[in-house]
Amino acid sequence: LAKKEKDKSFMKCICEILYEKVPYYDWVGFYMINDEGVLELGDFVGEPTEHVKIKIGEGICGQAADLKKTFIVQNVLKETNYLSCSPKVKSEIVVPIFKNKEVIGEIDIDSHYVSPFDERDKKFLEGICSMVSDYLDK
Ligand code: SME
Repeated sequence: LAKKEKDKSFMKCICEILYEKVPYYDWVGFYMINDEGVLELGDFVGEPTEHVKIKIGEGICGQAADLKKTFIVQNVLKETNYLSCSPKVKSEIVVPIFKNKEVIGEIDIDSHYVSPFDERDKKFLEGICSMVSDYLDK
């Protein structure tokens, strides 16, 4: 397989495993920074979203990229800078993927529950993002 195809199936597998194994992960996807410096939707599992491109600073995804840190919103109704994909979504966690201290993308997870995320989700997903960063080098 060509490298692009391999990266794609690897990222898709991660989405599928997280979506299938963690009951409160109801949408799992990757946004990667494109040539225009905008977050662009890559592999995902869950309902299709209209938010295919997201500018830095916009929504929870854009804020995580801007602040260069994991962003957890336990109740999206209380977040004003939020891009809604589905009324079913109640909470969201976004974890940046770093390469040489720069954000190259992120993993985005939506949940249909309020306050499902804790420190273990953060640590676990930061580990996955670090692994993805290493993988994309190969
Ligand atoms: N809710 C996100 C947009 C992406 S969707 O959740 C898939 C946000 O506010 O950035």
